[in-house]
Amino acid sequence: MFEWNSAMTTGVSDIDDQHRELIGKFNELVEAEAGGADREKIGGILDFLQYYAEWHFNHEEQIMDKYHCHVLEENKKAHDEYRIRFGELYEHWKNMTDSDTTVLHDTIVELARWIVHHTLTVDNQLHEYVK
Ligand SMILES: [Fe+2]
Repeated sequence: MFEWNSAMTTGVSDIDDQHRELIGKFNELVEAEAGGADREKIGGILDFLQYYAEWHFNHEEQIMDKYHCHVLEENKKAHDEYRIRFGELYEHWKNMTDSDTTVLHDTIVELARWIVHHTLTVDNQLHEYVK
């Protein structure tokens, strides 16, 4: 479980709102997994995360482009890496049995760490351009 904090601010309120939404959904996934939720529930959260993250990444890249932010290319590359890693998780999850829970748990932790690290080191650099 983790929370959005002010060090993550990008200076653009709708981007910050989207980060809060993503973090909230990730926490929902952590809770669902810890509580032994069924595959339909977990699958619904994974679907949301996949589509919402895709929409959010595109939106964030457009905003960074608009402000001529110097980390735009780094951000695009990081988003691509996330897409690949999340895609691997999702495929793995779809193919695994209900008793194979370790991989899902470890990957959730990895992706949660990615989001925190990414928002604190890349996304938040937009802040200095938005005055
Ligand atoms: Fe980003």
